[in-house]
Amino acid sequence: MAQNNIVGDLHVRKDKFVIEGGHKLRGELEIWGSKNASLPIMAASVLNSGDLILDNVPPVKDNITMAEILKVLGMEVEFLEGDKVHIKGEPKGYRAPYELVSKMRASFELMGPLLALFGEAEIPYPGGCRIGLRPVDLHIKGFESLGAEVTVEKGYVCARAKKGLKGTKIHLDKPSVGATRNIMMAAIMAEGETVIENAACEPEVVDLGNFLKMMGAEIEGLGTSTIYIKGKKDLKPVDYYKVIPDRIAAGTFIIAGVMLGKDLIIKNVEPEHLQSLFIKLKEAGVESFQIKDKEVRIKAAKNWKGIEVTTMPYPGFPTDLQPQMMVFLSLAQGSSLIVETVFENRFLHVGELLRLGAKISIDGRTALIQGVEKLKGAPVEVTDLRAGAALVLAGLVAEGTTEVLDVGEHIDRGYVALEDKLSNLGAKIKRVYYEEAN
Ligand code: UD1
Repeated sequence: MAQNNIVGDLHVRKDKFVIEGGHKLRGELEIWGSKNASLPIMAASVLNSGDLILDNVPPVKDNITMAEILKVLGMEVEFLEGDKVHIKGEPKGYRAPYELVSKMRASFELMGPLLALFGEAEIPYPGGCRIGLRPVDLHIKGFESLGAEVTVEKGYVCARAKKGLKGTKIHLDKPSVGATRNIMMAAIMAEGETVIENAACEPEVVDLGNFLKMMGAEIEGLGTSTIYIKGKKDLKPVDYYKVIPDRIAAGTFIIAGVMLGKDLIIKNVEPEHLQSLFIKLKEAGVESFQIKDKEVRIKAAKNWKGIEVTTMPYPGFPTDLQPQMMVFLSLAQGSSLIVETVFENRFLHVGELLRLGAKISIDGRTALIQGVEKLKGAPVEVTDLRAGAALVLAGLVAEGTTEVLDVGEHIDRGYVALEDKLSNLGAKIKRVYYEEAN
């Protein structure tokens, strides 16, 4: 937590990665469980009255924050060996604390299940990555359609449905991942049927839905843009659930592999979830990877050509892999275009990549990338989680030394001890603590 990092009055202790670029990546890496699926499933555990072991939940910072919020709500949560988390008890309150919620936008997804359970929920406006305004209007409209009265009081979004929620048809203006999940969790105990149109199809929505179905919720249409939910009051406890592998972590390592791999094996991958990445790599001329069951074997490609990539909701190219893809395309032969359609401000990493010698210009939501022969190491600053992952990739492939500053605030939110995982594969990367004026 931030206050533990304060050194004296004026300095804050931070950590950075120091990377010596150019080393090949070889050996095996097992991909961990999806953070973006773990978070809503942990939130949904407030509806599970039993003793639950969630498997494949890595102790990344965001998951720890969610665990802390559940504890404040009165539940018992303990991380166990082997990426498991033990959750038991029932929430005693429906108000989540600002200090924790402000660290992470996904904590807003407690609103749906708490509202379903108590007929009332109070959650601060959320924080998270600085990649755009990221409003919660679609979540709120959904709760209102289900019959809740929603107000904002002293920075808290307060939803009340004293007479209970009532199923209805909800059409989302955008296929928001968070809004789909939040509304789904609110609706499973509502009276009657809810239909969510233009719903998100992301695997992390499906995974949450599967967990809710194990609790007895009646949900159909998961993975399609129309989700049907028949509300019912009597859910049953679930004692074990295994979260899907993290497709964004897998994609990050696969992109690293096509630039630097030498017999690199990435295990525990769900290839179906990464089709859009594989298609784009092939379009760029990269054939040096093989997919077999849940494993991807990769060698570095000798060269690759520039392409166009447009981020889209699933099954389109994921916005969470856009910064990493930009590093790859910075080293392509010829020019590339990246169009970011999901978030309005997700090019924060571009300024840092320029420091490493990339040639990129931005026009609104489009980045034009002129491929260069090599990147050259320099100090760079992390602005958000996936930008951080991209800068680490850039450091690994760049000539000389790259210092990626402020990794604790951002990269640790989604990757556990990334430096150890990369070192095991032969990268030269270490974590160094430093002090910065407060
Ligand atoms: C989730 C992921 C995040 C990923 C994103 C898009 C988690 C914990 N996070 O975030 O890593 O980048 O999906 O794949 O799973 N929007 C609105 N109003 C709303 C909600 C969203 O306008 O009420 C907009 C957002 O500003 C954004 C777009 O919809 O432009 C997509 O956001 P959304 O799908 O909701 O992303 P998150 O669920 O926050």
